[in-house]
Amino acid sequence: MNTNIPDNSLGRVSLKGVNYSLDSLEILRNIDLSVNSREIVSIIGPSGCGKSSVLNLISGLQSPDSGQIKIEGKSDQSDRLNMISYMQQKDLLLPWRTVLDNVILGLEIQGIPKKESRKIAMAQMEKFGLLGFENKYPFTLSGGMKQRAAFLRTILMNRPILLLDEPFSALDALNRMQMQEWVIKLFDGLDKTVIFVTHDIDEAIFLSDRIYVMSSSPGEFIAIENIKLTRPRSREIMFSSDVLSIKNRLLNQLLKPAL
Ligand SMILES: Nc1ncnc2c1ncn2[C@@H]1O[C@H](COP(=O)(O)OP(=O)(O)OP(=O)(O)O)[C@@H](O)[C@H]1O
Ligand SMILES: [Mg+2]
Repeated sequence: MNTNIPDNSLGRVSLKGVNYSLDSLEILRNIDLSVNSREIVSIIGPSGCGKSSVLNLISGLQSPDSGQIKIEGKSDQSDRLNMISYMQQKDLLLPWRTVLDNVILGLEIQGIPKKESRKIAMAQMEKFGLLGFENKYPFTLSGGMKQRAAFLRTILMNRPILLLDEPFSALDALNRMQMQEWVIKLFDGLDKTVIFVTHDIDEAIFLSDRIYVMSSSPGEFIAIENIKLTRPRSREIMFSSDVLSIKNRLLNQLLKPAL
């Protein structure tokens, strides 16, 4: 069977029966995930359960032992490079490039001249709290600033699929909320597919259409929570009784003792 015939019945990103092990240690078991365009989906679960591994597999950085991973219905890995922008858990800024030149990496790769790329990025520096730091090197920045630079780089790549691994983990609470609100506005109405990992249940509820809860050893999805809150969402919604019961359900899943 030719697996590269697009299967339109699947979401833009789809994983079916994916198993993955490292050094004969079972990391992920039977992972099913389907995400459409214009959907924001999050993955939550205890540390070490395999959340980053799921994103590594989707991006093509790692390969599954078995199961299917399809992007736009196609399993060909070579297509993924142009479709996916991946912000890994570590910021991976290049130490020998200035903040501005780190941020424009994706634009440069797409062939946009440096001068133009810099202009595009400079227009966003203030929003990302990086104005005045464009000519500094990453080692002079705080963890939160490095993370915002890596996030801006991911956004500027302008790909249809964004994989974000704890994109706001190094930010203080206020900054984090501002970024969340900005993100929710940014993606509203855009043809993007966002899959992100977070430890923050409130963040997952606020941003997501659907939340996948993972257990550990091996990593398996043990619950899926659909978040049917209307968009655009405002912060007040987080105090509603609907949100409190969603939070309660998610916490119960996360705190469930492993069998
Ligand atoms: N390079 C590696 N070699 C061996 N084992 C690894 C490697 N990278 C990850 N692992 C193991 O794979 C499992 C899943 O790791 P992964 O990074 O996907 O978890 P995670 O849910 O993202 O964790 P965290 O919340 O701490 O980021 C862990 O048990 C980890 O020990
Ligand atoms: Mg991780």
